[in-house]
Amino acid sequence: MMRDSLEKEKTVDREWQAIADRIIKKESAVAARNRGRIPYTTESAHVFGDWSGPDRINWWTNGFWGGILWQLWQATGEESFRREAAAVEEKLDAVLMNYEGMDHDAGFRWLPTAVAHWRVDGDARARNRGLLAAANLAGRYNPAGAFLRAWNDFNDGRDTRGWAIIDCMMNLPLLYWASDLLEDPRFREIAIRHADTAMERFIRGDGSVAHIVGFDPESGAYLREYGGQGMGDGSSWTRGQSWALYGFALSYLHTGAERYLATARRVADRFIGRIPADGQIPVDFDQPADCPWRDATAAAIASCGLLTLARILRGEDCGGTASAASVDEAGAAKAQAAAESMLAAIDAQDADYDPAHDELLTKCTAAYHDREHNFPIIYGDYFYIEAIWKLTGQELFIW
Ligand code: GLY
Repeated sequence: MMRDSLEKEKTVDREWQAIADRIIKKESAVAARNRGRIPYTTESAHVFGDWSGPDRINWWTNGFWGGILWQLWQATGEESFRREAAAVEEKLDAVLMNYEGMDHDAGFRWLPTAVAHWRVDGDARARNRGLLAAANLAGRYNPAGAFLRAWNDFNDGRDTRGWAIIDCMMNLPLLYWASDLLEDPRFREIAIRHADTAMERFIRGDGSVAHIVGFDPESGAYLREYGGQGMGDGSSWTRGQSWALYGFALSYLHTGAERYLATARRVADRFIGRIPADGQIPVDFDQPADCPWRDATAAAIASCGLLTLARILRGEDCGGTASAASVDEAGAAKAQAAAESMLAAIDAQDADYDPAHDELLTKCTAAYHDREHNFPIIYGDYFYIEAIWKLTGQELFIW
């Protein structure tokens, strides 16, 4: 149903549509080769060609392949994409039934799978899965510090009971969705409290963003920030900046609270000011100038956030519940241009459209201090597709 209404939406820019067509051709082959799998990256970071699944069904990225399949279905109406997306969703039931395997990434797992499915056809089992995931996420709320706890006890030997991470801003839409569906404010209230804490504790004075913040889990007192997947304490891990940018724009869409729009704009301004001349985003904005490590996932996620911001600032409907109180054409144009410059850089310098290779983006990085850098990761492909779909008016609203 949503597909039909979006098809009428807007004039398509030919260049972006040509990119979308190349993606559809490639991903049709990729999906046919990967039936029954949930891809994460390639077999070897330096040998491109074959997707390899993560070794755990509860790995946080396991919703993104389903999201790619739903976006492909949205664009083509091809039933095989829908069938395979539903199969991925069903596989994730094993995670819902494993309390210890659940963490705050319920949004990343079930928004692009079960909730996407529900949005398309109101499927009752998909609705049930989305609500179970939302209830579990709400149960991670710690009222003492007003935050959603990220990971589980003693993650990698560290006491993480009081840790929250900026990535969680992207999980909040699962709570907004549950409240809207059930006409029950509890989930939304938790999301708002977490977003307010994130706004106060993660966003620095210059508009840059911390990855991890630690609170005392008993008293809720703020303790300190950690560098997490970035270069170090106080640095600007680029994917974290992107999660904040897109996440606060989405919290604005779902609540209409102007403070979230203002926060998304501050983070966006800082991000835009640090985009390098070649448009390729480093792993950390503070990494040494001669460091060749890139993270196209950060570019793709930030592009989705900036395109959403641009639509909000133009007063357009974005699939959520709010549009900006006052239209700002100049602000919208700035956000739009920054997103298009990063997407053009991915298209020209990074994307692999060869249907014989599984991956689309080749220069992604999971964490600055990891051994491997500049390799394909599934969520890079997901957000690149979502961004191109936004530009061509064929997106299925996921978040
Ligand atoms: N949410 C984990 C990451 O962005 O790597």
